[in-house]
Amino acid sequence: MKILTIESSCDETAAAVIDGNRNVLGASLASQIDAHRLYGGVVPEIASRAHLEAILPVVADAIDQAKITLDDLDAVAVVNEPGLAGSLLVGLSAAKAICVAKDKPLIAINHLQAHVYACKVAFDENLFPCVGLIVSGGHSSLYRCAGPIDFELLGTTIDDAAGEAFDKVAAMLGLPYPGGPSIQKAAEKGDPKAYDFPRPMLHEPDRMQFSFSGLKTSVRYKLMGTGKVDYEDLNITEQERADVAASFQEAVCDCLVGKAVQALKKCKMKTLCVGGGVAANKRFREKALDAADRYRFKLYIAPPKLCTDNAVMGAVAIERYKAGLFANLDLDVSPGLVRDKQ
Ligand code: KG4
Ligand code: ZN
Repeated sequence: MKILTIESSCDETAAAVIDGNRNVLGASLASQIDAHRLYGGVVPEIASRAHLEAILPVVADAIDQAKITLDDLDAVAVVNEPGLAGSLLVGLSAAKAICVAKDKPLIAINHLQAHVYACKVAFDENLFPCVGLIVSGGHSSLYRCAGPIDFELLGTTIDDAAGEAFDKVAAMLGLPYPGGPSIQKAAEKGDPKAYDFPRPMLHEPDRMQFSFSGLKTSVRYKLMGTGKVDYEDLNITEQERADVAASFQEAVCDCLVGKAVQALKKCKMKTLCVGGGVAANKRFREKALDAADRYRFKLYIAPPKLCTDNAVMGAVAIERYKAGLFANLDLDVSPGLVRDKQ
């Protein structure tokens, strides 16, 4: 079996060819980070235009790497939810066009299920049932995962996503976009105990929710007081910048790991699978490992390359293929802007 998977939900255009045993026969990715850096975050209109330019070369590259033609495919799978509407539409339109031209079945991929499935691709072990933690630029959510395509939302963020908080705090500190890797780098020389930032929601073990907006504001007040200050006028030493970065990173990681542990207890589960760009964070990985040791649960975090958006994690389409769950050609995008989709 050979499935073409397409990912265009946010700011990476990606395609992969996967066989029935989750072997990656080809994988291609065009990142838009440079196009968005100037604005300090993803600009939806720029994202969809860049997808439009990249989608065909990226698909062609994945197909070439796999040394096959479109005729050899058994199905075309594409992320249709959640994500940016205009971005999702580009991938979905390309997938439908291939299905019509080559008479192939279409499979819908849920981006969040794909993030968790990255752990399956990376470790090839029985992960389910598990608690799934997805931490990215757009999502911070906990799921009870009965199987790879059977997710029940436990809770999500009530304001910012974790990655979004990284990106915004990095901007405050004058560090480049994307903020996660920049803060991680700055934090290497900082003291994580220098500032005692809050750990929102951790003291409420029954609420499966995150909140990062107050933490972000706390960093802002620490940096520039409560008055109106231009970030460009920020006058801090390199050491202070590193200390703020390290203390902020520590607080976010405590929240993510602490909530995941609370979710495992609530669900009476012993396996945690983590996906999404923030899961690439070194300090997060260390803290999650420590918690797994301490609370005795199995921890799966995909390698950093499979944490950030990619098409290889679209291998979750194999599960739909096997279950005969194909989509109609009138499949629409489902951006899910307000709340994470299940
Ligand atoms: O999963 P992803 O590639 O795209 C979305 O679906 O949003 O996640 C991107 C997010 C960005 O906010 C970025 O700052 C964050 O993941 N990120 C990190 C790291 N690498 C990427 N956050 C913390 N530490 C990192 N090393
Ligand atoms: Zn993502």
